Amino acid sequence: MDKRYNIACIGAGNVAGHLLPALFSAGHNIVQVISRSSLSAQSLAIQLDADFSSKVDRLDPDLDLLFLTVPDHVLPNLINEVSWFRGIVVHTSGSVPLKRFSCVKYPHGVLYPLQTFSKNRQVDFKKIPIFIEGSDEIVHKVLTEVSQQISNKVYKLDSEKRAHLHLAAVFANNFTNYLITAADEILETAGIEREVISSLIRETLEKAIDPEQQSTQTGPAIRGDLPTIKKHLNLLSFSNELREIYQCLTTSIQNYYSTRSGDK
Ligand SMILES: NC(=O)c1ccc[n+]([C@@H]2O[C@H](COP(=O)([O-])OP(=O)(O)OC[C@H]3O[C@@H](n4cnc5c(N)ncnc54)[C@H](OP(=O)(O)O)[C@@H]3O)[C@@H](O)[C@H]2O)c1
Repeated sequence: MDKRYNIACIGAGNVAGHLLPALFSAGHNIVQVISRSSLSAQSLAIQLDADFSSKVDRLDPDLDLLFLTVPDHVLPNLINEVSWFRGIVVHTSGSVPLKRFSCVKYPHGVLYPLQTFSKNRQVDFKKIPIFIEGSDEIVHKVLTEVSQQISNKVYKLDSEKRAHLHLAAVFANNFTNYLITAADEILETAGIEREVISSLIRETLEKAIDPEQQSTQTGPAIRGDLPTIKKHLNLLSFSNELREIYQCLTTSIQNYYSTRSGDK
């Protein structure tokens, strides 16, 4: 191991709950976990042999690294609130640009792990791509070193490209999740167990990430099957919202594939 950094983190949610244990396992010293409620700070700190607090003014200014793993809307205030910190301050957001730090003097950076984190689900951090950006060469070097200790996939990426990456992640993850939730709702309305659709979801996702697969789109929209589309819209009479989504996605699929060839 190169250097054992002394680390603090403000925020003890989904990202902190995976990132801090990964840094701890890589041999770093997690000194403080600070969060809005001392309960969540404590439950994470306990696993990492760290101190905990619910007060930002308890932060030790002489640590090497401070991670801000709070919701994006909290970041602007927090970046100012820790202006007296003397080490490197790093946020983990996909959408907040590095220039959001422009009002402060401390060295700063971004370490964006491209994954969906939930507290109660295990992830293999080594497989998670990490995108880093630093205010200067020293920050960049430190973030590269630390990221490479916890992940096999570390990339340098500027704020503008990271915003696009985050947008793509919203389509791939958030919208897909919502559509699966909608599928569950349709099954529930019809009194069918949601479990029956699991193997279809699994194959859909596996096919989508298979580099050998040319086109994965099937179904009534790409086939231009108007009677089935009409029937589906009628079945969705229980939800105007889902009808609108169905119509919008059907049109979008048809427009997209009208200029390309795909299997139906
Ligand atoms: N979730 C993901 O999959 C994911 C993936 C990549 C990047 N990110 C980014 O990582 C960051 C953290 O996301 P997250 O999902 O970990 O959020 P989260 O699960 O909602 O956790 C946020 C944490 O911040 C704490 N907090 C909220 N307001 C605070 C304040 N004013 N002062 C101190 N602590 C405060 C919360 O305290 P309590 O525990 O007391 O509620 C909570 O521990 C965000 O920038 C997000 O965009 C998230």
